[in-house]
Amino acid sequence: MIASLAAPRVILIGGGAVRRVAEVLAQFDLRRPLVVTDPWMVSSGTVERLLEPLRAAGITPAVFADTVPDPTDAVVAAGVVALRGTNCDCLLGFGGGSPMDTAKAMAILAAAPAGVPMRDFKVPARADRAALPVICVPTTAGTGSEATRFTVITDTATDEKMLIAGLGALPLAAVVDHELSWSVPARTTADTGVDSLTHALEAFVSRRANPFSDGYAREAMPLIAAHLRDAYAEPGNAVAREALMRGAFLAGLSFSNSSVALVHGMSRPVGAHFHVPHGLSNAMLLPAVTAFGLEAALPRYAEAARLMGWAAPDVGDEAAGRALVDGLRALNRDLAVPSPRAWGIDPGRWEALIPVMAEQALASGSPANNPRIPDAAEITALYRVAFAGNA
Ligand SMILES: [Fe+2]
Repeated sequence: MIASLAAPRVILIGGGAVRRVAEVLAQFDLRRPLVVTDPWMVSSGTVERLLEPLRAAGITPAVFADTVPDPTDAVVAAGVVALRGTNCDCLLGFGGGSPMDTAKAMAILAAAPAGVPMRDFKVPARADRAALPVICVPTTAGTGSEATRFTVITDTATDEKMLIAGLGALPLAAVVDHELSWSVPARTTADTGVDSLTHALEAFVSRRANPFSDGYAREAMPLIAAHLRDAYAEPGNAVAREALMRGAFLAGLSFSNSSVALVHGMSRPVGAHFHVPHGLSNAMLLPAVTAFGLEAALPRYAEAARLMGWAAPDVGDEAAGRALVDGLRALNRDLAVPSPRAWGIDPGRWEALIPVMAEQALASGSPANNPRIPDAAEITALYRVAFAGNA
């Protein structure tokens, strides 16, 4: 077996790492970053945690702060226009998954001739070229985008969340500082935490898993499972924050070198059409999708349950598999994850959009990585099960 592995060239990880971001730039002789972030990072003053040490190092960065949740092709295009008005030599993605994904997409789009739309890069196309390097600094323990060769951008013409994959989306460097996540509110902590757990679990059961992605997933799952409830209940819990940030990063490395699967395939359309936050739509689907695939990769799912402490080491696969599904349901209860119905989605609109969502899920390719590969009818049934919270 030949495994293909990719990761950022430099990873600076630990409390206070953001204060050394200028050192990372200097390693690559980069001097003129365009910081890509969102308006909240600016208005809350959080972006100063990045800008201040840069200024202290004699660097005055340009800032593009117009990124939006579920980043769109329009915002990426606006970012490229802003970039072309500067003489920046790198992009510094700062924030949750949306600013980081926007920075990565800007680097890809800026490498293409003017007028090429973002959708030209969605899978199965490969996005291997970037106009300039990207350094990512996450402020949430969630997407792991700082570690991955993926970015997810919404096509505003079709409301499709497009998966874009390739080396063009892989950051040159990642600066991972859990202290940036301490002020993240409980709801976001829960949602981003379940996202990272989903990355590790899906990478671990994926048909594209390999011994190297397995290693990262095996490290990530116990960290996230052991600390997510604590960080949710107690935002200032530094031990939990550190573990979750490390877990989210390791989960990112894992799925970037394996893949995500059916949960993400079905979750992206829910986010695109109903604007459910990404981690939350994962959580709404995770127990039902896990139960759907359980028998197709039972030893893997059972090992995941044991790794997370949800099944004892000597428990057999059948019981451990059941414990995994029960554990995911319990986690959703403890993190107050609503059903799509309880979240406020109109049942008629959900039902009407299921065919489109199923089609977009299948087109993303992610369901084909699932241990049990679904057809459109099975995806339809899963969307219906998840809607009422019978997941
Ligand atoms: Fe995700």
